Amino acid sequence: MRGVFDPDTYRARREALARAVPGALLLVPGNAAKAMDFRANQYPFVQDGTFRYFFGLDQPDLAGLIDTETGDAWLFGEATGIDEAVWLGSRPSLGELAARVGVTRCADGAALAATMADAIGRGRQIAWPPPYCAEGMVTLARLTGQSLARIAASANAPGNLALVRAIVGLREIKSAAEIAEMEAALAVTARMHHAAMAATRPGVREHEVVGRFEGIMRAADLHFAYQPIFSGRGEVLHNLRYDRVLAAGELVVNDSGAKSHGGYASDITRTIPVSGRFNALQLRLYETVLRAQQAAIEACRPGVRFVDLHLLAARIMVEDLVDLGLFRGAVDDIVATGAYALCFPCGLGHQIGLDVHDMEALGEDNVGYDGENRRSALFGLRNLRLARPLRRDMTVTVEPGLYFIPELIDMWRGEARHAGLIDYDAFDRLRGFGGIRIEDDVHVTAEGGRVLGPPIARSAHDVEQAMQGDA
Ligand code: GLY
Repeated sequence: MRGVFDPDTYRARREALARAVPGALLLVPGNAAKAMDFRANQYPFVQDGTFRYFFGLDQPDLAGLIDTETGDAWLFGEATGIDEAVWLGSRPSLGELAARVGVTRCADGAALAATMADAIGRGRQIAWPPPYCAEGMVTLARLTGQSLARIAASANAPGNLALVRAIVGLREIKSAAEIAEMEAALAVTARMHHAAMAATRPGVREHEVVGRFEGIMRAADLHFAYQPIFSGRGEVLHNLRYDRVLAAGELVVNDSGAKSHGGYASDITRTIPVSGRFNALQLRLYETVLRAQQAAIEACRPGVRFVDLHLLAARIMVEDLVDLGLFRGAVDDIVATGAYALCFPCGLGHQIGLDVHDMEALGEDNVGYDGENRRSALFGLRNLRLARPLRRDMTVTVEPGLYFIPELIDMWRGEARHAGLIDYDAFDRLRGFGGIRIEDDVHVTAEGGRVLGPPIARSAHDVEQAMQGDA
């Protein structure tokens, strides 16, 4: 079965989880199929990352149960009926699916409901990863007898929090096989980005380029890991519109990545000069961002706090922006006060794995922060998704950027915010510049960050060269 590791992998993961949360019954629901506009017309299925990590399977409407008292694991789901066989084709039996991921006990949804009712009746401690979509909440409410409101608020309930911490501790360390999955996704993503560079030129509509690289991905039988960003208005951090005609002289931000057959995400951003050459100011700022990215990648070592890498990248960019006259005063002050967030209002990156923002469904603070590293209240820095120290074999994105956002410049100028540190007239001259983001997926090793996947044109020169390639 494509994209599934060997049964021992899942057995070992479940055993590790059982050791970390002893004495509990752990309910791990998979995702349900989601209707688009009527029940039988469904969105492409995306499995829940935690279910896939412990139970491996990519089919909808399954649930896993791990009894950490006995060490037993079950897979629950419905047998296929004749209607499904007629319309969709038959699929392996539940028993076959279970065996594929090292589970020997399986039963239908009614048995799951009965098992849960029995456990609740006996006062067993039950825990589940917090749900993030309506279907998951309804399923949990039905199985646990709790109200939807309590289920929605259950992320930080004591039993669930212990489970969440245990899941994060396991999922954030990537095995060689997981890294290989990410690199398989990146091999296709590299081709997508190079095709996008070759297809970008004045007069082309954004969606025409998106269609071009989406075609490469679908021909490889992959799907996006997230909705792609491809925009000449790259200062809008997550611009999801593709309807502009690209104009000479502007920059396009292409933030897009495929998921591997095993469900592992890639998340790559490149910034492309529509004319085929960066102009002098674009080149200067592009190289500023690239320098910041390179320094942060090299510093990605076990024990280094990701927040310090964010601040390192900010500092490197601010040094150049002071030279360019956008900021004034001491670099330390511009970084410490958060004044730099006028043009870098987001975080340096996040963990990546089965989810593009890996495990953030379990609570962003539960993944990126801990007792010693609390979220900042400063504008910009408060958007940092990961602050705590890196661990060996984590995988993270490193994605500094510079963004010239007219609305934000107007707002801060109106408030005279950090007025002693910012030359607002200089920022005004960059209205319409757009944005620059450069992002790679990085494996944290003892020697520093290793950029995953094949090389994807990144220096200004290589991007310009790739634009001469075959579209
Ligand atoms: N690259 C898209 C995101 O990080 O949300």
